[in-house]
Formats: sequence, C-alpha cells, structure tokens
Amino acid sequence: MTHPEDRLQATIANPQNMGEMPDADAVGTVGNPECGDMVRMWLKFSEKDGKKIIDRASFQSFGCQTAIAVASMATEMLKGKTVAEARELKSADLSKPLGPLPPMKLHCGDMVEGALREALAAENPKSEPRNPNLGTEPSPVADPTLLGSFQAPPLKAGKLKVVKLD
Ligand code: FES
Repeated sequence: MTHPEDRLQATIANPQNMGEMPDADAVGTVGNPECGDMVRMWLKFSEKDGKKIIDRASFQSFGCQTAIAVASMATEMLKGKTVAEARELKSADLSKPLGPLPPMKLHCGDMVEGALREALAAENPKSEPRNPNLGTEPSPVADPTLLGSFQAPPLKAGKLKVVKLD
C-alpha cells in the first residue's frame, strides 16, 4: 500500500486535471491573503439516472504544492459525484488520500474546499449569481488574470480563512 507521503510526492510530481476548462458549467475561485495563494476550480456537469453529476473537474492554482496536490485529488474524487454528494465533501475528505495535513497546511485544503463551494454556489440556480459573467458568454474561464482579481472581502463561511475572488 502506498504511504500517504509518497502519494503526496507523486501527486505533486504529476497533478491531475490541472488547467482551465473552456466549456465549464461553473467556476469558483478563492484565495488566502495571508499566504497569497489561490485556487480556481471548474466543474462540468452531466446527468445520470436523472441526477445531475459532476462529469469532470479541473483546477488552476497559484498555491503551494499542498494546495495543488489536494486540488488534484479533489478533482479526481469529484468525477461521478452528484452535486448533493459534492456539497457534503469537506477539506479533510478531499485531502484524505494524502494523509493528515500538518496544521500549518490545513488552510491549503480549505482553499480547495472553498473553490469547490464557490463553483457549486455558482451552479445553484436558487442562489444569486455571484459574478454576472459566470455561466454566460464569454465562458467563465475568460478572465485569465487570476492574480489581478485577488482583491475581495473575506468569506464569512464557516471555518474557511479564504476569500472569494471574482
Ligand atoms: Fe497557503 Fe498552502 S501555504 S495554500
């Protein structure tokens, strides 16, 4: 059985699903002003047995390697999950295959959870669109200036010490 630390190194060396998704249905971006890192996640949905499922997910990160590893694991884990199941996933679930994160790296996983929540919120037709550009033309990936958008008020959601980025 692979040791979690080896898995972390292997994932860092070969992250999966990294990059923009031009045909995404939803996108979420969060950042942490303290470490200056950020994660953006794209989701593409499809339908299976009458339920909306995540067909695929991808991410982009200007974060540390831990954030990249967790995002890689998360985007793999999300494939085939229903939206309801994805909403249940916490940062600890997303990073579980990598083993417990050290305390100073917990926020890296929180950022990935935050990006997922933002993407799912953008997908939810009941919620107010947080960004008028989301889900419309041009595609939600049209803004490549992730760093340029790193100015936003803190998220007030739960334990996340991250900020939403438009
Ligand atoms: Fe900030 Fe990892 S150190 S995301």
